[in-house]
Amino acid sequence: MRHVTTVVGATGLLGSAICEQLAATGVPVRALVRPTSEPATVERLARSGVEPRQGDLKDPASLEAACEGARAVISTASSTLSRQEGDSIQSVDLNGQRALVKAAQRAGVEHFVFISFAPLQGRFPLQDAKRAVEEALMGSGLPRYTILQPTYFTEVWLSPALGFDYRNARARIFGTGHGRLNWISVEDVARFSVRALTSPRAWNRVLELGGEEALSQLDVVRLFEQASGRTWTLEHMSEQELREQSLGASDSLQRSFATLMLNVALGAPIDPRPAMEALSLRPSRLRDYVARVVAEQSLSSRESQLR
Ligand SMILES: NC(=O)c1ccc[n+]([C@@H]2O[C@H](COP(=O)([O-])OP(=O)(O)OC[C@H]3O[C@@H](n4cnc5c(N)ncnc54)[C@H](OP(=O)(O)O)[C@@H]3O)[C@@H](O)[C@H]2O)c1
Repeated sequence: MRHVTTVVGATGLLGSAICEQLAATGVPVRALVRPTSEPATVERLARSGVEPRQGDLKDPASLEAACEGARAVISTASSTLSRQEGDSIQSVDLNGQRALVKAAQRAGVEHFVFISFAPLQGRFPLQDAKRAVEEALMGSGLPRYTILQPTYFTEVWLSPALGFDYRNARARIFGTGHGRLNWISVEDVARFSVRALTSPRAWNRVLELGGEEALSQLDVVRLFEQASGRTWTLEHMSEQELREQSLGASDSLQRSFATLMLNVALGAPIDPRPAMEALSLRPSRLRDYVARVVAEQSLSSRESQLR
C-alpha cells in the first residue's frame, strides 16, 4: 500500500517544518534534496527519520523517481530565495512545478498539496507562475488536490532580513504603513499543509491561509514597542517609489519582489475562516510571535552582558 509523502522544497523554511511535523506523526517522508542543498539541513531531516532523495525541479526524470510509490506530494519549492545556476521563476516556479504535477499524475499519486500564495494586486512573474501551476493542478486529473494560498510569512516579512529589524528597533515601512495583512507563521502553514492530507473538507479546494487579525506594519511596530518598551525608528519607502521599482525592474525576480513589497503597502487582507473550518485548525496570534522574539532578544542581550 502506498503511504509515503514526498515533500519538494524540503530543505526550505516551510518544507523542513512540514517534513518534521509529518515525521513526528509517523508518516514515512521522502524529501527531494539537491547536491547543493545545505548539508546541515539535509542531515537534520535524515535524523528526524526523513528519507532524502536527490532530484531537481528542472530534471523531470528525477521527479518521476521522487513520486514513484508516493501516496501524496506536498510542494513548497520556489527559486525566489534559494537559487542555483539555471534556477528562475520560469524554470522552477513555473516549468518545474508543472513538471512535478505531471510526474505525480503519471506515478499515480493520490493527493497533491501545492503551496501558492493569496491573490495580490498587479501582474508579476511569481504570481503568474503560481496561478498557472494552480490551473495545471486543477486540470491534471489527479484524484485530489489542495491549493493553499498563505499570505505573508511572519518570520520572513517581519524579520531583520526584510528590514523589520527588531534587534535594533528599526523598521523599513512600505507606503504609509497602514496596509493591513493577515501575517501567518511558517509553523502554522506547515500545520495546515499536513492536516490537508487527512481532511476531506480540504480536498479539491483552494484555501487562503492567514492569521485571524489583519494588522498593518505600524500595528506590528506598536506591538513590539509595547512588548519591549523600546521606541522604534522608522524609515518609509513611498508607494510611488515602490511602484517605480516594480515597473522599472530589470528581471522577473526583482519585479516580483518589488510588487510583493508594493502589496504590503497597499494591504491585502483575507478571510482565514474557510481554511480554519475546512482544516479544524486555528492559526497562532501575531502577538505571540512578538512576545517570543522580544523574550529571545532580552535573553541574548543578558547572555552577552554576562560574557
Ligand atoms: N515568504 C512568504 O512570505 C511566502 C508567502 C506565501 C507563500 N510563500 C510560498 O511558500 C513556499 C515556501 O517558502 P519558503 O520560505 O519555505 O522557501 P525557501 O526557504 O526559499 O525554500 C525553497 C525550497 O525550494 C527548493 N528549490 C529551489 N529551487 C529548486 C529546484 N530547482 N529544484 C528543487 N528544489 C528547489 C530549495 O531547495 P535548496 O535548499 O536545494 O535550494 C528549498 O528547499 C514558496 O513556494 C513561497 O512562494 C511564501
